[in-house]
Amino acid sequence: MSKHIAVIVGSLREGSDNRKLAQTLAGLAPEGMEFTFVGTGALPLYNPDFDENPPEEWTAFRNALSRADAVLFVTPEYNRSVPASLKNAIDVGSRPYGESVWDGKPTAIATGSPSGIGGFGANHHLRQSLVFLNAAPMQQPEAYIGRLAELFDDSGNLTNADTKAFLSNFMASFDAWIDKLS
Ligand code: FNR
Repeated sequence: MSKHIAVIVGSLREGSDNRKLAQTLAGLAPEGMEFTFVGTGALPLYNPDFDENPPEEWTAFRNALSRADAVLFVTPEYNRSVPASLKNAIDVGSRPYGESVWDGKPTAIATGSPSGIGGFGANHHLRQSLVFLNAAPMQQPEAYIGRLAELFDDSGNLTNADTKAFLSNFMASFDAWIDKLS
């Protein structure tokens, strides 16, 4: 049976290198994993005052996540944390209290950056929120992808064979992680 994976890209930028990384990861995944990219840019900022009558964008986002068997996060680091739009999406998905879409959800995190540190700070801030929310972030392998933009050719294709092998293994591990938790 197919696994339905929601993909959340932390960058809203049209030419995002992290989006290219997410598309590459989806392309390298084992057979049976199906991917739906779920946007976060149109989500109104989370405000508990709207819990009783939520904006339709919140409801659509929560429904998309509820339907998914697992979630793949691919994000840049902004100021040593996650971009605000991604944190907002985490908050929107976590409420109303007791109805969090993250509860028990297998997740994997890949961070990408032009710097050599590879988004370590964002990766671990996101991991902290997911652990608190009782989502299940895959522990190993970790994916901190440095010098991200240099990995893609003009058509957005990943050229480095070692990175391709690493990312393939990351997705095979995620597939096994989902199996283990289901
Ligand atoms: C950045 N960038 C960045 N990079 C990093 O490695 N650590 C950081 O803390 C930050 N902080 C930061 C803050 C803000 C507001 C911006 C706009 C950028 C650089 C960032 O990694 C770079 O722009 C990436 O290319 C963004 O990813 P996308 O949009 O290409 O996916």
